[in-house]
Amino acid sequence: MIASHEHLELGQFIPFIYHHNMLVDPARMNAFRDAIDFAVPFGSRVLELGGGTGVLSFFSAQRAAKVWCVERNPELAEAARRLLAMNPGTERVEVTQADAFDYLPPEPVDVVICEMLHVGMLREKQVPVLASFKRRYLEKFGAPLPRFVPEAFIQAVQPVCQSFDFGGYHAPVPSLQDPSAPQPRTRELAQPVLFQTACYDEALPDDCTWQGEIILACDGQLNALRFITKNVLAIIEAEQRSIDWFSQYLILPLAEPLSVLAGDRVSVAFSYTMGDPIAALTPSVKLIS
Ligand SMILES: C[S@@+](CC[C@H](N)C(=O)[O-])C[C@H]1O[C@@H](n2cnc3c(N)ncnc32)[C@H](O)[C@@H]1O
Repeated sequence: MIASHEHLELGQFIPFIYHHNMLVDPARMNAFRDAIDFAVPFGSRVLELGGGTGVLSFFSAQRAAKVWCVERNPELAEAARRLLAMNPGTERVEVTQADAFDYLPPEPVDVVICEMLHVGMLREKQVPVLASFKRRYLEKFGAPLPRFVPEAFIQAVQPVCQSFDFGGYHAPVPSLQDPSAPQPRTRELAQPVLFQTACYDEALPDDCTWQGEIILACDGQLNALRFITKNVLAIIEAEQRSIDWFSQYLILPLAEPLSVLAGDRVSVAFSYTMGDPIAALTPSVKLIS
């Protein structure tokens, strides 16, 4: 049922017009540029899966000897070739229009960059694409695997009281939030609770299944859950820090809001497959005491 709706959504293939939103986002651009500067050695070979306009391949080409940039959407592959040609150092970038689920580079690479990221690891195929890539890469070239940018992801969930009033019209609809912007429509009822972590160079999960208890810190109407995904783009061990980028937060209204008091405990459960459409995430939230 859910899978049959997928072709009606924007899904994993983001039309050209939406790429401006990604190019203009300073948090995303700065974090990826810094991570690439850290992770891509001079003279190395880089593969980018899901190249879009080619910007991350451009960053990589300032250091790498060769960059293979793979993009499935023909309109974007063509745009990437045209835009890259306007920028210095990009004679080292080769754009291929192909599905990242099938593609392998002609020779081993040092770094793989993949930004098919969406909160919850939903909608875009980041996790299944990289799981498939790792399996096929090891079959063709053997170990070691390349370094991955991002290196890991960390996911959390938070109970909130969300205003769904739009000019007097009550509409509890899902929404995305800019993590760096104030959110006057959202009142946090507890701290975020971690539900999943994974490293791209280890076995990747096929799904996300979680059941846990959350103790509420405030009174209010629990009418939505906020989902938070932190992408750890690069871990700089020597400096004991990482370069991180948060996907947009997802606010998901609950079918049955609960009136809660500080100290109440709620049981939260959900299960979905990595890369599923957002509609596949249907959490159950029950008051325990
Ligand atoms: C979130 S955009 C990021 C684009 C670019 N890397 C950037 O950072 O600006 C993800 C890109 O991956 C492409 N994509 C999605 N699924 C793909 C697949 N299976 N194979 C190749 N490209 C894919 C989309 O068309 C889109 O251009």
